[in-house]
Amino acid sequence: MLRWMPMLLLLAGCAPAPRAGAPLKPEPVDAVGLHNVFRLSDNVFTGSMPEDERSFESLQLLRIQTIISVDGAPPDVDGAESFGLRYVHLPIGYDGVPEDRAKAIAKAIRDLPGPVYIHCHHGKYRGPAAAAAALRCLEPNHSAASLVAYLKLAGTDERYRGLFAAVQRAPATLDDATVEFPSRVPVADLVTRMVEIDETWDRLKKQPMAANAIVLLEQYREMKRATPERDERFQTYLAEALDAATELEANLRAGADPAAVIQRTANACTACHAVFRDNRVSSPP
Ligand code: HEC
Repeated sequence: MLRWMPMLLLLAGCAPAPRAGAPLKPEPVDAVGLHNVFRLSDNVFTGSMPEDERSFESLQLLRIQTIISVDGAPPDVDGAESFGLRYVHLPIGYDGVPEDRAKAIAKAIRDLPGPVYIHCHHGKYRGPAAAAAALRCLEPNHSAASLVAYLKLAGTDERYRGLFAAVQRAPATLDDATVEFPSRVPVADLVTRMVEIDETWDRLKKQPMAANAIVLLEQYREMKRATPERDERFQTYLAEALDAATELEANLRAGADPAAVIQRTANACTACHAVFRDNRVSSPP
């Protein structure tokens, strides 16, 4: 038995060592008018949605040629065009990066003029996950651990399990199929409503005024009318959100300190998302 040992050791020595996955090395970048900007490679950047001229100028300074939005909001295609930038709209939810989407984004990175800038709304959750899943299709050797570390660095909360799963599963193989790179696609009604509610909420946080609270209240009422098919649990969360917005509007109109009810309104968003948005996993590893 013993005399076989050197031979076995020799054989083991010949086997190629498994290649350790090359880590992704994201670098934070300061850019006026944008947040959470990271440079992932010479060709790929991620960050928040460009919202004004300053943000498009910043993208020009970074020499970006193509912007890829994975957000539900309609991209400002004309604004981007006036800065010579092309927009591609490939939206995803919070439940994961569907394999086809990861491939389409990977092909956009590979085939469209670069560098590309990939964004969601804040540049913290969906954009980083989509970019990481796509990069892994192009570079399967990227270690999953470093992609997870990048998501955490960008600010992705652990509760977005579907997004974490998407960067850890086996990367999709790129095929020869051609994909469309549309500049703006329609999204589901609920996503559109949420994008609008989110804008109102941003305004309310900056200017806590009854006029803004009434818009939120109307948007929730409209959402209730439009989602009769959703289950009782969803309706309970929506009812709480409606109640909170009603109280907020009354409170602001009366000129009372709104801190507590603003918190209640914010909690209503988080509570519903925790059940119906964040914790879904569409693409297990
Ligand atoms: C009663 C439930 C409910 C409430 C209340 C709610 N949301 Fe949502 N929200 C959802 C669901 C469900 C989705 C995921 C939709 C999808 O991807 O299909 C979502 C998605 C979103 C999105 C992502 C849109 C995109 O680009 O895909 C944003 C932003 C958002 N909500 C903001 C808010 C804010 C801000 C509030 C509170 C002021 C709020 N939501 C209150 C259920 C809710």
